[in-house]
Amino acid sequence: MTTLEMTKTPATQTHQDWWRGGIVYQIYPRSFADSNGDGIGDLPGITGRLPYVASLGVDAIWISPFFKSPMKDFGYDVSDYRDIDPIFGSLADFDAMVSEAHRLGLKVMIDLVLSHSSDQHPWFKESRASHDNDKADWYVWADPQPDGTPPNNWLSIFGGSAWQWDSTRQQYYLHNFLASQPDFNFHNVAVQDALLDVARFWLDRGVDGFRLDTINFYFHDARLRSNPPVPKDQRNSSIAPSVNPYNHQDHVYSKSQPENIAFLKRLRALTDEYEARTCLGEVGDAQRGLEILGQYTAGDDLMHMCYAFEFLTGPRATAPFVVEVFEALAKAAPDGWPCWAFSNHDVERHQSRWNLTDDAARTYVMMMMALRGSACLYQGEELGLGEADVAFEDLQDPYGIEFWPKFKGRDGCRTPMVWETQSEFAGFGSAKPWLPVSPQHAQQAVDRQEADPNALLHFYRAAIACRQSTEALRSGEQSGLNAKGDVLTFTRQSPSETVFCAFNLGDQDARLEVPSGTWEPVKTAAGSVNGQDGLGPWQFAILRKAGG
Ligand code: BGC
Repeated sequence: MTTLEMTKTPATQTHQDWWRGGIVYQIYPRSFADSNGDGIGDLPGITGRLPYVASLGVDAIWISPFFKSPMKDFGYDVSDYRDIDPIFGSLADFDAMVSEAHRLGLKVMIDLVLSHSSDQHPWFKESRASHDNDKADWYVWADPQPDGTPPNNWLSIFGGSAWQWDSTRQQYYLHNFLASQPDFNFHNVAVQDALLDVARFWLDRGVDGFRLDTINFYFHDARLRSNPPVPKDQRNSSIAPSVNPYNHQDHVYSKSQPENIAFLKRLRALTDEYEARTCLGEVGDAQRGLEILGQYTAGDDLMHMCYAFEFLTGPRATAPFVVEVFEALAKAAPDGWPCWAFSNHDVERHQSRWNLTDDAARTYVMMMMALRGSACLYQGEELGLGEADVAFEDLQDPYGIEFWPKFKGRDGCRTPMVWETQSEFAGFGSAKPWLPVSPQHAQQAVDRQEADPNALLHFYRAAIACRQSTEALRSGEQSGLNAKGDVLTFTRQSPSETVFCAFNLGDQDARLEVPSGTWEPVKTAAGSVNGQDGLGPWQFAILRKAGG
């Protein structure tokens, strides 16, 4: 273990448990740093920028997929799970990146997309060739209804039916996303075994964990029953935009099947064969997201943590909303372990989505650092980047092209990272990038913020350091969550300390009622009324109880 790691994990946390309360920095490889001047980010580009990531004080990186892929969904359509796509580099580049990350005290989490492959994967090519080949049953094939229509009403998130006709097999196959992302048939144990072998391949290569794409989509109802509708007034756009008819169905049969639990146990047992590895499962379900999160993270033989959508879509996280989310979580999953994020490569950046001022962005990240759970930060949020405007002609994301103009897709959060204000392409690389650099983003580049002690970037470092050095914030129990107007308060408690946290998530001065006792500031937003009597707009106070 390096010194850096030791200082990051509080004394009461074990080496195995580094992920609990850990902070993960998400890298979207196409858009982080382009080392070879082809306009697309790559692994050597990431390696070169790892000292910057380490300087933030995070525990780990999660890198979105870099496997061989026809890139129809920009890497979430894998055609070879055991190799790197040449646009990103080679396996040797991957190994070099992992060893540099480890040297810097950063864990490496990779993004395993096991629910579906690309239609260019040899397994699918074989599967679609006939009804009786070795892989015939590796994907979800079904006959048409007598009138030729798809087997049931299941919808694809990316638009239209979830079934695609295949003229060779004269059958439909299931795809929850693009038609070029056929769904695996997890009911077939040989499929499970093959995918577990993929996980083992990367564990053997030294990765510290997985971000597991769409884990509640692994299994489908073997009887292929149609999903019931969601009543109009109960539709919820937490995982798909409101313009998407996917929200009209309750996906009780197309995903989140009970058989998944046994598979997740197999995956966990495999990762437990290795030291200090972690599984972070992405759970997307508009009706039962937190319930499933609880189910999948209960006990110690399933996922270590699940990635929650609560703060990723929809309106600003107000104080009452935060209370509501944690109350629902406590009900669904008293010992479940969430991983929170405000932004990622799939949603509008929260700086724009919540229309944040600089002060508000500070208070929100401090709040995330104080709440119970692990946290994922998305590249560029530490610079306060908002959603970039991408013209229709520059769109790359098939999801955006399908639902334009009501939903513009995910390109606006995937534009290149900005390193140097004055350089062409903001220091991303030497060639025109695959998505344009936002001129506004260039003004917020890393070099400019490094030189300005008041910049948001330095605040992110300080907020991260506050969590890393405060055992109660990282891994303590959480109690007394309360919203009074815009003020959110709660207490975190570990064996050695009690910390009271208060956030004014609004534009008005607010009174603050600190529980009785003597409290010392751990961190207060500059200018707050000593952090104890009141909070100005968007101010916060993190206070430690004297004497533990
Ligand atoms: C990923 C998306 C991807 C989808 C299909 C998601 O949840 O985050 O980027 O398009 O899974 O793999």
